[in-house]
Formats: sequence, structure tokens, C-alpha cells
Amino acid sequence: MTAQTPAMEPYSRHVLICTGEFCSPDRGGRALYARLSMLLQREGLLFGPRRVKRGETPCLGVCVGGPILVVYPEGVWYAGVTAELLERIVVDHLKNGQVVQEAVFHRLALES
Ligand code: FES
Repeated sequence: MTAQTPAMEPYSRHVLICTGEFCSPDRGGRALYARLSMLLQREGLLFGPRRVKRGETPCLGVCVGGPILVVYPEGVWYAGVTAELLERIVVDHLKNGQVVQEAVFHRLALES
């Protein structure tokens, strides 16, 4: 048996949304995740080198103030994400590179 070599097409960012119940008792992250692909498609971010990869996870280790969403490679963490805020994150941050500052509660500390 031979192992296949994995391959990855170019992408610009990776978004993870928590769909767990501790940070969001109504599991609002699930609805956000379901909406995300539609927004990415509308903004031209679903395919091609600027595409945004996405994933859902049962916990991001925060567990309050959700739904929680994090964007890499910047390591920008958003709390209390609503449908309206998700749309701003997609358009302002993922498409135009402008972080939605007022909803950020943590940033990855990068070594220079
Ligand atoms: S359950 Fe959402 S961060 Fe832990």
C-alpha cells in the first residue's frame, strides 16, 4: 500500500467557527457556519487563489461570549458573532483585509 501525497490549492485565509453549546447556548455558530459558504460565494471567495477555507469545530477553548470565530493567518478572534457581524467579517476582513476592530477580543501575538 502506498500513501498518497496530499495536495493543497492556494488560499488566502482560514476561518474556524465554534458550533459548541458552551460559548453559545443556542448553538448560533451552526447557523453562522451554514451561512458562511453563501457569503463567501457571493463575495467571490469560495474558489480560486483568494479563496477562504472554512471549518466548524465543537470548541475553540473560549467557551463564553460566543459564537466565537477566528481568522488565520492573522489569528484574529471575534466574539458574539451575529449574522450581521458575520457579513461584515466576510466583506471587510476576508475580502478587503480590514479587521472589524470593535468585535475583536484577542489577536495572535506574532514574533518579529
Ligand atoms: S464551546 Fe465555543 S469556544 Fe468552547
